[in-house]
Amino acid sequence: MTEITGEIAFVDSESILVQWKFTGIWLSFGIRRTISLASRAIRKIRSDGLIESLKYTREWISENYHEWRLGIESAEYVQARDLGIDGVDYAPADYRSLTTALRGLDISPARDVFLDYGSGKGRVVVMAATYPFRRVIGVELSEQLNAIARKNIQRAARKLRCNEIEIITADASTYRVPDDVTVVFLNIGGRILAAVLERLNESMAKSPRKITILFKYPRWVDNLLGQCDWLTVRREIPCYSEFGERFLVYETTATRFKSLPRIVGSKPIPSSSSLRE
Ligand SMILES: C[S@@+](CC[C@H](N)C(=O)[O-])C[C@H]1O[C@@H](n2cnc3c(N)ncnc32)[C@H](O)[C@@H]1O
Repeated sequence: MTEITGEIAFVDSESILVQWKFTGIWLSFGIRRTISLASRAIRKIRSDGLIESLKYTREWISENYHEWRLGIESAEYVQARDLGIDGVDYAPADYRSLTTALRGLDISPARDVFLDYGSGKGRVVVMAATYPFRRVIGVELSEQLNAIARKNIQRAARKLRCNEIEIITADASTYRVPDDVTVVFLNIGGRILAAVLERLNESMAKSPRKITILFKYPRWVDNLLGQCDWLTVRREIPCYSEFGERFLVYETTATRFKSLPRIVGSKPIPSSSSLRE
């Protein structure tokens, strides 16, 4: 009886020592992290002012929360040249405006098919699949990004309500739009966007229907959709942006597209950064 008590006392004191060690490590990690965050916050307030810094913080929290909630990694910016592709860089749409746009849709699980052009690491595809779409499709030029997107879809699987998700490696400008697509997400610009509008035109000609277009674009590129007389702006989604992006929801007003936009010159693209550092 005495021997057993001795053993228990020995194990307990050792485990208390181990616990103290871990607590110490966590405390010092926590203190260092807090100091680093505080100094970053002070630098941010000094450079951008209090209001902008508060907006940035709200966005930073939202970005990190959704990545954690879905268990995915889609935040980091990637330059097209690092992917070996000739096209737009990878920069994900922000979660807050994306959520607002998706919540505003009247989705019919029997009818609606969602398509993201230039789906990158799959953030928009995953978010769309948390809603009851019949099908969600992502079209992306980079196989490297598609591999990450597929991993992200697997990781978020338990949160998804749509169980038919396709990730396709293709050039969006030549990809033939399936004729049942009813919601399109566009976070691309320039010549690819003009070509995508032509592909949508062809699909509408074959199968006339209403299409909702969620269009996120930086103010420094031309809004090609604004030049289309067959599209009407239904709403503007407030969206955080260090560089002034806009997020507009368009709807087709004609069952068949009429005019296609002409591309005029674009302004240079400023460098971007990720909120998840
Ligand atoms: C600005 S990111 C948008 C990513 C995602 N749609 C989002 O909003 O979170 C643009 C994406 O388009 C892809 N891309 C560029 N050119 C493309 C093309 N011709 N066809 C398909 N995807 C392309 C890039 O690799 C990048 O992932």
